[in-house]
Parts: sequence; C-alpha cells; structure tokens
Amino acid sequence: MNIATQAAQIGLEWDTRTGAVTVPIYQTATFRHPGLGQSTGYDYSRSGNPTRQALEDGIARLDGAARGFAYSSGMAAITNLLLLFGTGDHLIVTEDLYGGTCRLFDKIFSRYGITFSYVDTTDTRAVRSAITPATKAVFIETLTNPLLKFADLPAIAAICKENSLLLIADNTFLTPYLLRPLDLGADIAVYSATKYLAGHNDTVAGLVTVKDPVLAEQVYFHQNSVGAVLGPQDSWLTSRGIKTLAIRMDRQQENAGRIAEWLAAHPRINKVFYPGLKDHPDHALMGRHARGFCAMISFEVDKPELVEQILLKTTLISFAESLGGVESLITFPEVQTHADIPPELRTRLGINNVLLRLSVGIEDCDDLIEDLRQALGE
Ligand SMILES: Cc1ncc(COP(=O)(O)O)c(C=O)c1O
Repeated sequence: MNIATQAAQIGLEWDTRTGAVTVPIYQTATFRHPGLGQSTGYDYSRSGNPTRQALEDGIARLDGAARGFAYSSGMAAITNLLLLFGTGDHLIVTEDLYGGTCRLFDKIFSRYGITFSYVDTTDTRAVRSAITPATKAVFIETLTNPLLKFADLPAIAAICKENSLLLIADNTFLTPYLLRPLDLGADIAVYSATKYLAGHNDTVAGLVTVKDPVLAEQVYFHQNSVGAVLGPQDSWLTSRGIKTLAIRMDRQQENAGRIAEWLAAHPRINKVFYPGLKDHPDHALMGRHARGFCAMISFEVDKPELVEQILLKTTLISFAESLGGVESLITFPEVQTHADIPPELRTRLGINNVLLRLSVGIEDCDDLIEDLRQALGE
C-alpha cells in the first residue's frame, strides 16, 4: 500500500468498540486488571498506552519495521538507542550532524566510555577506514543537517553487514515518505518527529523503528526502563500530523525547489545547498534512492551583515529554531542549532557566519519569495 494511504489511515482501526475514526486519547496513567494475573494488555502508561501504541504501530508500518517506539523528544529517542552500547564501544558518526546529537555523544555518552569518530559518510571509503575492532555501529543522518548531504545508504549497509555493525539512520529530514532506511539496509531508523512527521511546529516528539524483532525487544526494555515516553496527547497530535505527511511534503518540496532556484540566481547569494538542484553533488544518488529532495535549503549570503538583516526583516518566514512544519522558519546554524559542534569542525564543514538554513513551509510560494526579496534589500 502506498505510504500516503498508510499515513492518512494511521490509528483508524483502533477503536473497534465505537468505530471512532481517530484513535481516542487514553489520558490515563494506569489500567484496571480484570483479575489476578490478568491484564487487558495495558498495565501502566510508561509500559504501554493505546494512543501511543497506535502511533508506534503506525510508524512501524510506514517504515516496514517489526516495531515502533515513541519518545518524549528526538533526543530522548537517540539517548535510548545509545543505551544499546557500553564502555569500550566505538561508533562511526556522520560529521555534518545535528548539534544536539553531537553534544549528547561528546559531552554525555563519552563520559561512559563510548567513543565516536566523525566522518564524511557520503564517502563510503572513509566509513570503512574508520572501523576499529571496538566499532559496534554506524550512525548516519540520511540527509545531513545543515549542509544537506546524502549518503549512499545501501553501500554503508553492505559495509556494516560485512563487519557485523548496526546501522542507525536518523531519517528526520526525509521521513518514510521520501525514504525508508530499513528497506535500504539500516537496522534502526530514528526521527525527531517534532519536524516533518508531526509537521505543525506544535509538539516535541521522537520515534524509532526497528527491523529485527529481537533487537526491538531490547529497545522496548530500554524504553520502559528509562521512561522517556511520549504522552497520550502528544502521541495523538503526532499521529494527527502524520495523516497529512504526504500532502504537506509534496507542497513543501515544490515550494523549496522554486525557492532554491530563485536563491541560486540572486546576486547576493553566494552558494545554495539544495539536493534538488542539478549541480548538488548528491543530486543523482538521491534521485535514485529517495522519492524527493525534501524542503530544507541552506544558503550562503555575500556578507555577514546580511545574515542579521535577513533574520530581522523576514516577516512571513519566522526566525526560529526547528524545521519541517507548515510554517516556514529560518535559522542561523552557527549560533543556534550547531553551536555545540566544535569550532574547528564547524569551519571545516562550512557552518560559518554567512550560512542560513531555511525550512520551507506550505505557504504560497510567491509570498515566500516576496518575503525573501524584501529581506535581501531589493
Ligand atoms: C536531524 C535531527 N535529529 C534529532 C533532532 C533532535 O530532536 P528533538 O528536537 O525532537 O529532540 C533534531 C532536532 O533538530 C534534528 O534536526
């Protein structure tokens, strides 16, 4: 079945008693037992809640996974996955990584004896040569944040298989609608559902999907033990958001394609990073593996002073962190989302004082272009 159909119907089958079309919000901490040693299947909402379960089953279906898991944020989801590793383990990680993930790895998990090597995962040879006897996993972002690089997932999956490494793919930017990491060889996909999946800049949530049922049981053990679960109201909002994922993503991508071309032709814009542009180095590879090019654009302006001007003068496009929602947002990665990346790495990657990141929403594209035009001072 097409993902757009599966997404629209998430939770539909849940309430067989009343036939409610959307899953009810089971706002309860606990569940009455029918008798001694008996359970309805639900005992306590940290361990399982029907509204959360509808979302977890839904994302598992969208990703073709054995099971799905919902957490209180994308960072909580990634934290839970890192509990699969212990002292002495080594992970290979995409170097162009969300700053919060980098902070979690370097400032927290490194304290527990886990080590991380940051490599350009678009270079599969670099991935292979970073493997050591202690390596246990490769953690990649399928489309990187903020420079929008696209890795060859099947090639990395083959390296992982050869070396018995887990492959974990942060698929936040692409979502199952544009790419299903487990189909391309990843073992686990993880999402900041705060972004495209929930899609309305109104809830913070994280999701994980796991291909292998035995590994999924281990992930469930950690989810229940740690307890950073998504509450029923936010689970409902996330499921509600996912229902319109396909239609939002189609519109956002269409807008982004036009805006990227408009920016590329603008005299005050030096560089545009958007994989949908034919001159993007990963354009052809992404065209083969993904259904679309997402709706994130990063761009360099010609002078640092122009950054502040754009952030202050855009009116329709909000100067705010986050991405993927229906409202367009603009951020300054160097001082916001990627402030926790070590400065030398930031410089090498090109996250600098002239780089802006635009999350294109569903607004009318002409209105968005007009907003950028006036902010650029035309
Ligand atoms: C690629 C990526 N992964 C993970 C996260 C963390 O998710 P959350 O903010 O929901 O905790 C983000 C947040 O921006 C992100 O961009």
